[in-house]
Order: sequence, then structure tokens, then C-alpha cells
Amino acid sequence: MYELFQQHIETLRTRFDRALDAGGFDALLLGSGTAPRRFLDDNHYPFRAHPPFVQWLPQLTQHPGSWLLLRPGRVPVLYLYCPDDFWHQTPEAPTGDWTRCFEVECFADRDGLTSALSGLGRTALIAAERPSFAADDWQQNPAALMARLDYERAVKTDWELDCLRRANRTAVLGHIAAEQLFSVGASEYRIHQGYLAATDHNERDLPYDNIVALNEHAAVLHYQFQDRAAPAERHTLLLDAGAAHLGYAADITRTHAADKQSAFAELVAALDSAQKSLLHSVKAGADFVDLHRNMHAKLAQILADSGLVNASVEAQLEQGVTRTFFPHGLGHLLGLQVHDVGGWQQDACGALREPPAEHPFLRLTRELEPGFVVTIEPGLYFIPSLLDDLRQSPAGRVVDWNRVESLLPFGGIRIEDNVAITADGHENLTRDAFAAAGREGF
Ligand code: GLY
Ligand code: MN
Ligand code: MN
Repeated sequence: MYELFQQHIETLRTRFDRALDAGGFDALLLGSGTAPRRFLDDNHYPFRAHPPFVQWLPQLTQHPGSWLLLRPGRVPVLYLYCPDDFWHQTPEAPTGDWTRCFEVECFADRDGLTSALSGLGRTALIAAERPSFAADDWQQNPAALMARLDYERAVKTDWELDCLRRANRTAVLGHIAAEQLFSVGASEYRIHQGYLAATDHNERDLPYDNIVALNEHAAVLHYQFQDRAAPAERHTLLLDAGAAHLGYAADITRTHAADKQSAFAELVAALDSAQKSLLHSVKAGADFVDLHRNMHAKLAQILADSGLVNASVEAQLEQGVTRTFFPHGLGHLLGLQVHDVGGWQQDACGALREPPAEHPFLRLTRELEPGFVVTIEPGLYFIPSLLDDLRQSPAGRVVDWNRVESLLPFGGIRIEDNVAITADGHENLTRDAFAAAGREGF
């Protein structure tokens, strides 16, 4: 493992040295960040380390106030904040193989860094807040440097891929436990607790808040609550839940129908099969906007086959019917952040390709390259407010509204896999993890 990590750091050093050179900087300071204080309170929000810091120091996700100093051709120096604080557990000087990639200096007094960091030359810093020791001429979050680093972050190192694989393996344990709890009638809250136990995660360890949606709640794309009471009738579980390994996120969704013989279960199976069929085109060179559009065509076919919509695929696409049922994007870059940076960037200078006007929520418009990790997450939802709009439009005439109404209590479907693009195709981190857990086809 150390060798992979060492190669990861070597790759980052090459990338960052070039970026500093291109930006005319002699030094870069990456901050780990701080936890903001709650308004009118002496408590803080949970600490989340800044992603550029975590990319270098994934072992230090709970170390606010620390800094990494990067200078071209020099060993990176970690300034680890170790305050005298008897209220909290404070860090000790880290040990472990990975520390061999860095020089490590512990400090307790923030102002003490002023002299350590003087005379660096042209300096950039990346952090949400400007530290007290920053000289006036240091540039905070310079746009050109950030654009380049964001762009390059899409291509994962082998070490990052290994973390993402492990995060997927952990998350599928939670998904399997959750489905079992759903099958015995557990509430959203109990399913969430079962997920945490199975993944060995606390809430603060999760890369994003679990979406545990029963029945019509599955129509709320980012449903944020967890009912304590189980519903009287059990139709659907839509679980969008991840896990983290050393700061790298899994982002997985599975949808389960309680009645495996129902029309809704048929739709789940149809979407699953369409997602798998689309995956054949997910490879280097594919344009993600085209993939998104192809998924709409597959969805139109499902809507026609199921009798929900009485119109050809072409007519549905022409009139935008599928956008009512699938209003979000096909997927996004994944890594240190669930919605990783740089999804619209077309080059290292920061040129953007915005999504087509009719698909404003698509977070990824790049051509896929080996090393990218993306989600592929089509959906098919019955969202009352969007359905009302469609019903009142001319295109609403092609919809079988009785059928739609019969499906409202089921909410919707999303199926989300994490895939790593390779030179000749892709590796499906999620389906491989389910298979390794003995749940092929989950
Ligand atoms: N979990 C949020 C998303 O799938 O993008
Ligand atoms: Mn996602
Ligand atoms: Mn998700």
C-alpha cells in the first residue's frame, strides 16, 4: 500500500510543480480548514477538511488548522496544528509509512508560523479563510491555479482508485443491510441506523447525508428526513447512500420494490437493464452529454413499453416528455467530493462547456478519459409538481394519467453505480463490490 501512496504523491508533486510553474508561483500553502462556529453559539459545525489538503494527506481528515507547504522540487512540509487544549483530543505527531513522503513540523501557536513561512517568494494559498500569518501579497485561491488543479483532479491515481474501490465495498454492506431491514418493514430511521452499523460509519464519516426514502418520498430527489414511524403500506425503498475511505467517496443508489410482481417492480427491472445497456458505451472518448441524451432515449422506450406514454421515442424527445420523469443529470465526477470539481471544464485554463439549456442539471460535460471516476445514475420518478406542469402542456396528451396516478405512491427509481474509466472500457466499482459480497445483480 505504501508504494501506491508514494506513487500517488509523486504524481501530485509533478502535477503541482507544473501548475506552480505555469502560474509563476514559488510556493503553495494548502490549508486543512477550520470548523465554522454556529451563529450565537459556542458550538461548531462538524469539521470537513478542505479537499485539496485531503488529496495529499488523506490520513488527516480530522486535523483543523494545519497547512501543507509545497515548493517545486522540494519535499512537502506538513505544519500540523497541535494546540494545547485540554477540552479536546489534540493530534500527536503522526507515525506510519506515509509520513516518509513529508517533513512534519508540529506547532501550537498560529502566529509562530509567521517566521517559519516568511521569505517564500511568490506564494499562493488555498483555503476558505485567510490565515493571520499570510503576507499581504500572498494570493488566496488564485483562479487560474485552481482551474488547473481542478481539471487535473478528474484523473485518479492508482492509489485513489484503490480508495474508491474500498469505499464502494463498504457502502454495499450498508445497502445489503438496508434492503433486509426494508423487507421486514423498518422505518426510514431504522434503515439509516442499520446502514451506519453495517458500514461502521458515524454520520460525520458519511460523504453526504443518506437519502433513505420510502414510498412517495422516493420522488424527492434529495429527500432529507428520516421518519421514525414506518408507513402503513410498504411499496418502495430508494436508498442513496455512500461511504468514505480515506476521504474518497462512494455514491450508490439502489431502489427496491416491496412487491416483486408489481408494475413498479417491472419498471425497476427495466431501468436497471437500460442502465446496464448504457454502460456498454461508458468508455474513454465518450462524450458525457451524448451519454445523457442516450439515456433519455432509453427512458422514452421504457415509458412507451410500459404504456405510461403513448408516443414514439422521437416524439417524446422532441417534446421533452422524458425530462419530467428524469429531471436530473446522468452523473458526475466522483472522488474527494461526491460532486467532484471540474465537471464542466474543457481545459486546464478553465474554459467551461455548460450543459445544454434543456438539461441544466447535468454536472458533467467532459469527454471521458482513462482514470476518470463517474457515477451513472438514471432515474424514473413520479414527481407531482413536474407531472402537473406536463399535464397542463400540449405534450401531456400522450400520457396515460390513470397509470401515472397509480404509480404516485411508489415515488420513483434511481440506480446509481460508480465506474472508473479505463483505456478500453470501464471498471464498475459498485457492481463488482456487490458481486464480491455475494450479491451479483443487486
Ligand atoms: N447522492 C447525490 C447524488 O447522487 O448525486
Ligand atoms: Mn451521484
Ligand atoms: Mn447518489
